[in-house]
Amino acid sequence: MGMIYLDYNSTTPVLPEVLEAMLPYFTDDWGNPSSTYRFGAKLKGVIETARAQVAELIGASPREVIFTSCGTESNNAAINAALEASPGKRHIVTSAVEHSSVLNYCKVMEKRDYRVTYLPVDRDGLLKLENLENANPISSS
Ligand SMILES: Cc1ncc(COP(=O)(O)O)c(C=O)c1O
Repeated sequence: MGMIYLDYNSTTPVLPEVLEAMLPYFTDDWGNPSSTYRFGAKLKGVIETARAQVAELIGASPREVIFTSCGTESNNAAINAALEASPGKRHIVTSAVEHSSVLNYCKVMEKRDYRVTYLPVDRDGLLKLENLENANPISSS
């Protein structure tokens, strides 16, 4: 009997066309595109083409597209960028049911003198907007 996998939020198999597009870079054309030597650096154009394609797909500019290695790195980079963009704001509002990559990051920020509010969710996983408003997320302390 076939399995029904219900956690595509966590990972998915790659589509055959994705595998086909990626195969050369897993086999013959591998290397580190950030290398200073040609063996890897010749792949920089491939990355930039992919960046431009993703940007076009989501209506962004290529310079707004950052490739990361995983969800944890993405979450950490996004939160860090938001905090860096507003250094005067020291209050993070999140939900109590975020992925551990978010919650652990917030715990670290608490030790760095950020105030963190963890909003509860109801049995359907929904936030009460009233709680969000009461958390006063735009305050600077
Ligand atoms: C919402 C969410 N954030 C972050 C992650 C972590 O992703 P990774 O294991 O790629 O670091 C997951 C993984 O399931 C996730 O579902």
